[in-house]
Amino acid sequence: MPTIHRIAILTSGGDAPGMNAAIRAIFRSAQQYDLHVYGIHRGYDGLIDDDIDLLSDEVIRNSLQRGGTILKSARSDRFKTHEGRQLAYRNLKDRDIDALIVIGGNGTLTGASKLCVETDLKILGIPSTIDNDLYGTDYTIGFDTAVQNAVEAVDKIRDTADSHNRLFLIEVMGRDCGYIALHTAIASGASSFLIPEIDKTIEELVEDIRKSLRRKKLFGLVIIAEGNKLGSTTQIAKQINHLVPEYDIRVAVIGHFQRGGPPTARDRILAAKFGKEGLEALMNGVHNRMIGYVDNQKKFSSFEDAVSIPKVPDAKLIQLAEILGR
Ligand code: F6P
Repeated sequence: MPTIHRIAILTSGGDAPGMNAAIRAIFRSAQQYDLHVYGIHRGYDGLIDDDIDLLSDEVIRNSLQRGGTILKSARSDRFKTHEGRQLAYRNLKDRDIDALIVIGGNGTLTGASKLCVETDLKILGIPSTIDNDLYGTDYTIGFDTAVQNAVEAVDKIRDTADSHNRLFLIEVMGRDCGYIALHTAIASGASSFLIPEIDKTIEELVEDIRKSLRRKKLFGLVIIAEGNKLGSTTQIAKQINHLVPEYDIRVAVIGHFQRGGPPTARDRILAAKFGKEGLEALMNGVHNRMIGYVDNQKKFSSFEDAVSIPKVPDAKLIQLAEILGR
């Protein structure tokens, strides 16, 4: 018999489209267990500040299609301290909340891993970050929408690049990883790409661009992950400026545009599955784990593994982007 009667949900770190769909799925699925479901506002900061309310149908209603998070989010420095985590724990215990579902990425799960070692809380993690950089799941909530947003932006840049015969260096998000960049490069037909997982020198990047020039391509698109190893996109542009004088070069940073807007259907469905199945797992005794899907199979990983084991992009996808970019 489940010993959980009251649960709380928070969203933390960078918001990701689809977080609301996950909150909704948890809330609706909880009704079959007669659970009280609390919403914590502003992530771990709100937990420390006791910014916690009972969730209701009224709060959840009309949120499925909205980007961002109705619970709001934060990157909490206070939660990195033992004192902060103890305050957070007390606020949950004062309401007799036995279990916590955290929805977020690296920082969120790192916080959860500390909290579960220091307390008796039962915690379940739902992977949600546009970066898609968590081990233990092929996809995280928000990634598909971020790629879709980036591709739409690149398609628009392509029009102006084509009209002026310019080379555009387009920076996409991905603090430590190149998932968004790699997928965007393939889907938008970029001549080249830079991601932190591959060592590419300036000379090699220039060679990619030259290959495309040799094919009499008059304009060019290069997708650059913000976490790439060659430096800022502006610096890279300066370096290649005199090596490829044929091109008039421009830099475009897509930035937070990628994180907003309605989640794609794929993200909504992924979030719905994570929400329902995550809650069920929690009720069946799985805790202090992150839910994920690998090759369509459900998988539960420790928080430590989820954040510390590198998730390397598929080599075949990298090869595909390289071949098609030529
Ligand atoms: O973690 C997701 C992410 O969008 C990263 O790709 C990016 O580096 C970072 O968040 C930006 O964070 P912030 O919105 O706090 O500036």
